[in-house]
Amino acid sequence: MPNRGSIILFIADGVQGKGVKSLAQLQTGVTVISSGSATCPQILDNNDLSRIVDTSDEWIRTRTGITRRHISASQSLCDLATAAGEKAIANAGLTPPDIDMIILATSTPDDLFGTAPKVQASLGAERAVAFDLTAACSGFVFALNTACQYIRTGVYRRILVIGADCLSRWVDWSDRSTCVLFGDGAGAVVCQASDEGDNILGFEMCSDGRLNHCLNLPFVGQEKKIGSRHRVIQGGYTKITMNGREVYRFAVSKVPEVLEKVLYKADLTPEKIDWLILHQANQRILEAVAERLNIPKWKLIANLNEYGNTSAASIPLALDEAVAKGQIRQGHLIAIAGFGAGLTWGATIFRWGHLSS
Ligand code: ACO
Repeated sequence: MPNRGSIILFIADGVQGKGVKSLAQLQTGVTVISSGSATCPQILDNNDLSRIVDTSDEWIRTRTGITRRHISASQSLCDLATAAGEKAIANAGLTPPDIDMIILATSTPDDLFGTAPKVQASLGAERAVAFDLTAACSGFVFALNTACQYIRTGVYRRILVIGADCLSRWVDWSDRSTCVLFGDGAGAVVCQASDEGDNILGFEMCSDGRLNHCLNLPFVGQEKKIGSRHRVIQGGYTKITMNGREVYRFAVSKVPEVLEKVLYKADLTPEKIDWLILHQANQRILEAVAERLNIPKWKLIANLNEYGNTSAASIPLALDEAVAKGQIRQGHLIAIAGFGAGLTWGATIFRWGHLSS
């Protein structure tokens, strides 16, 4: 089994002879072994929002499925990510120094230079290299798939993948078309090298920058003179803007497509899937995707009623709640799919937990 310091020999299929291992055989397998999550105690419900903007509980519930969202009052992104990570590590029966790498999927870092190293320090995961990864609401899926590559190549054995976002910082609280959608939170999983086969059965990641204008949190700057001959642009980030109808159309067309591709790659059919966890953006999107794949609604895991759209946190938060409730059990086949700004989208199918324990 390749490990740190191993030399991996790449052998083309055509020249593979008896007793010579193929690349697939040489790769280390990956298992997602535990989860954890963290939410904020401050709750903002639809009735609270109807006192802030021209909206109603009825409109929000019927158009989105959201009733409440939890928003941060004093917790930093680092606090939320650390709390989720701590639980995931403890639920794996590990301690922070066992972790080799931390990938923090977030679009709302405390520091633009990266928040993951601060999370590493807060956790006491002193051996881990830590970095941020930004892919908006696809962030967790992209981070999980990235982590798997490091494990498969034998470079690292235990990786903490965190999805955490505080979009309440960047919501325009006077724009009823976006402020009703978002909440804050964090979720995390531990991925571990597996010597008993690969439990990540397939993945796919996609981007289409031509649709970037549909959902933005842009930098806006103004020209400033420095000295007599030079100019720079300085400014800051504005607020979230979104063409909801376009993003909706994109999601209901691209998410089933990407899930179908991953099912095909994994040589699986939709009825084999035990649980479908989609990015928690809108109940109508979740149901439309399940219907297109012929996956019964009872297999959909949804908690957006309580938390709204928590961006990169939404999938691991829903996963962790389902694991804690005993809904997701050892060996269950889980399909996850994220979609959002970029625009980006992607999916992964994996088998939960150690099969042999
Ligand atoms: N309360 C009352 N009325 C509202 C509200 C509100 N909160 N928001 C919009 N409306 C009005 C609109 O002004 C419009 O009125 P009009 O017909 O008089 O013009 C009407 O309701 C319908 O508006 P639509 O935008 O067409 O409503 P729609 O049914 O599409 O629902 C929604 C809007 C919920 C945003 C939906 O389009 C959606 O969920 N889109 C996808 C969002 C998403 O998935 N984002 C994921 C990525 S997030 C990320 O990456 C960070």
